[in-house]
Amino acid sequence: MAPHEVDLTVYPDECDAYGHLNQASFLALFERARWEVIARGPGMDIFTRHDVWPAVRKATIEYHAQAYPGDILRFTQNMVHLGRTSFTLRQTARRLRDDTLVASLEIIFVMVSPQGAPTPVPEPIVQAFADRILPGNLRRVAVNGVNLAVDIRGRGPAILFIHGYPLDHAMWEPQLAGLDGWLRIAPDLRGMGQSDAPDLGYSMATYADDLLALLTTLGVDKAVICGLSMGGYVAFEMLRRAPERVRALIVVDSRAEADTAEIRRARDAEAGKAREGGPDAIADNMLPKFFDNRPTAVDQAIQDQIRRVIVATPYAGLLGAIGALRDRPDSFATLRAQQELPALVIVGEEDKITPPERAQAMVDVLPNGELVVIPGAGHLASLERPDAVNTAMRGFLERLVR
Ligand code: MLT
Repeated sequence: MAPHEVDLTVYPDECDAYGHLNQASFLALFERARWEVIARGPGMDIFTRHDVWPAVRKATIEYHAQAYPGDILRFTQNMVHLGRTSFTLRQTARRLRDDTLVASLEIIFVMVSPQGAPTPVPEPIVQAFADRILPGNLRRVAVNGVNLAVDIRGRGPAILFIHGYPLDHAMWEPQLAGLDGWLRIAPDLRGMGQSDAPDLGYSMATYADDLLALLTTLGVDKAVICGLSMGGYVAFEMLRRAPERVRALIVVDSRAEADTAEIRRARDAEAGKAREGGPDAIADNMLPKFFDNRPTAVDQAIQDQIRRVIVATPYAGLLGAIGALRDRPDSFATLRAQQELPALVIVGEEDKITPPERAQAMVDVLPNGELVVIPGAGHLASLERPDAVNTAMRGFLERLVR
């Protein structure tokens, strides 16, 4: 069990007349879990030591499944937003015996002095909850009013990797690990992964503005932009908004068309599923599409990773992304306007979401574009067949700097 995870047993006195863990008891259990993390970390007297107190400003709880007396619930707590005097924790409770998500809570605290004035968040509290949400190479970078979690590796000319929906930067691990000689930048888009998930304000334009601001903050003027599927749609939006900052384009398993009326209706249905069934319902919906008819062709570890990422995605981020996907414009005119732009279009031969003919259609309007079809790969080619994809990318990047 990780240090920020807490296991608590459900007792009969916390349950209602039907034997379920009562909705009101959840708040108490979430609070117990937070205190447990504080007790194990900076100590329960942390607030009195700093002469501050955390006041709850807002709590949003979602109930997903029942729990019964004797069930052990595993509580996980992550700081998903840190302001100067406030912070937001996202907590989840999963039933240990079958790993079912039972409830999730987003809770905003404001730190106040004994006189009730807002006061900076004490560093040990940030350490207790926030350092654990950024494992490995992840860093927090504040842009456009949100904190993005960003994996940054290496030195050299920059490549920005933009993940698909509803995933996170980790889908680029083989490229982040393998493309030496380049500064590899892989953010979690707002609402996904470990980045902040504001309630509102999701669109391809917002994602693109976030990433342009991220490049500026990192001192990168111009980058190779590499997007997979929805990441491709964000890349097209960056091209529309700031073509001068795009050194070259790599599109993986994506398409330039806007959604048809039928796909838009399907997006609305998916949003309904997300509202009713939460991220688990989205995982059930997306996984067969990603690994369509080929579950045994893709490593179980990859399928498990993708499910884990999807079920951890905040509601606001999921719903926001679905709306952004539905409302995105057609991008053929954007690509046609880029007659000089070096472009590499990669597609999994078995990709059913954005099949090879969609990739061919993009290359057809990009005179400086080349197409690479990856045998045996589906919609997540860069993860499923990393060696073949890295070889294609390396060749393209070498030609670019030659
Ligand atoms: C993705 O993989 O990013 C999505 O499947 C894209 C889409 O649904 O259009």
